[in-house]
Amino acid sequence: MAVSRQLRRGPRVRPASDRITHKGIKRLREQVRSLFAERYGRAAGDPGATTAPVPPLPNLASLPIFQTLLTHRSVRRFAARQLPSGTLEWLVAAAQSASTSSNLQTWSIVAISDPARKDAISRLCADQAFIREAPLFLIFCADLARLSAISAQEGQPGEGLGYLEMFLMAALDATLAAQNAVIAAEGLGLGTCYVGAARNKPRELAAELGCPERVVAVFGLAIGVPLPGQRTAIKPRLPQPVVLHREQWRPEDRTAELAGYDRIMRVFYDAQGMKPDGTWTQQSARRIATVASLRGRHALREALQSRGLLSAEPRAGTA
Ligand SMILES: Cc1cc2nc3c(=O)[nH]c(=O)nc-3n(C[C@H](O)[C@H](O)[C@H](O)COP(=O)(O)O)c2cc1C
Repeated sequence: MAVSRQLRRGPRVRPASDRITHKGIKRLREQVRSLFAERYGRAAGDPGATTAPVPPLPNLASLPIFQTLLTHRSVRRFAARQLPSGTLEWLVAAAQSASTSSNLQTWSIVAISDPARKDAISRLCADQAFIREAPLFLIFCADLARLSAISAQEGQPGEGLGYLEMFLMAALDATLAAQNAVIAAEGLGLGTCYVGAARNKPRELAAELGCPERVVAVFGLAIGVPLPGQRTAIKPRLPQPVVLHREQWRPEDRTAELAGYDRIMRVFYDAQGMKPDGTWTQQSARRIATVASLRGRHALREALQSRGLLSAEPRAGTA
């Protein structure tokens, strides 16, 4: 009885490191407020930046969550250090805690730490060096093989398989899971970088990973201890009015905001010592300019069909 009361109340005296002081909360609140501003590049001091005020914070308990979320930046340089044991399992638990459509859990992770395999995979993913450097590379797969096997086991026709909806569901679930893993990793002080280039050569990557039919990589995720002294800045995002429509989508002219964002990104790149080829809008337009700019991913539909995730023939509705 005494023990359960103690558990409910918690220890009588908190260790000093656990004590939350008014000063600590105030500091954290100021930090989170300035992270909000930084996310939109206001810290860069750009005169063209929108200077909408930082909104009031929802509540104090959420401060550490917002601190982790708003501090995000991709990390592409890693220290030559292995991750503490248990890290992978905690990250997977975080990933599996994400919502999942109809609780179907139509995704899988292939975790790679073997240097030779990372090297081979890096070659299939646009030869990005940080994949080799990261001690852990996770490949998130849309996985309809498990559901297909369950369907057969239950003696069901599985007619729903092969529709775009099912692939989209699996890819969305994998994405939500991955982002949970990213937040968990960042909460542990680790750095991460997604790798969409895992879709550049889907058949070759599936063969390298030993994926069966109905399993395809949707992206990779490099995870490791950030290389000391290589901390990148927070990359500003588009101003909120550009992405946030209230009640209905409004076709407003956003040319001025986009030009402002181009200036903010220029300040960001200058501060990082980077020399981008053109403005953000120019780069974005180039990213979709030609079929070649999709870097092999224009053939994704065919790859999904050959991997059994999408039917080759358009299907008539049955209802
Ligand atoms: C699905 C996805 C795929 C990505 N693929 C790559 C990639 O192949 N290589 C890379 O260097 N960064 C990749 N990124 C990272 C983005 O470039 C990065 O998130 C974006 O520039 C914003 O920067 P930040 O994450 O530092 O805020 C990817 C991000 C996402 C969400």
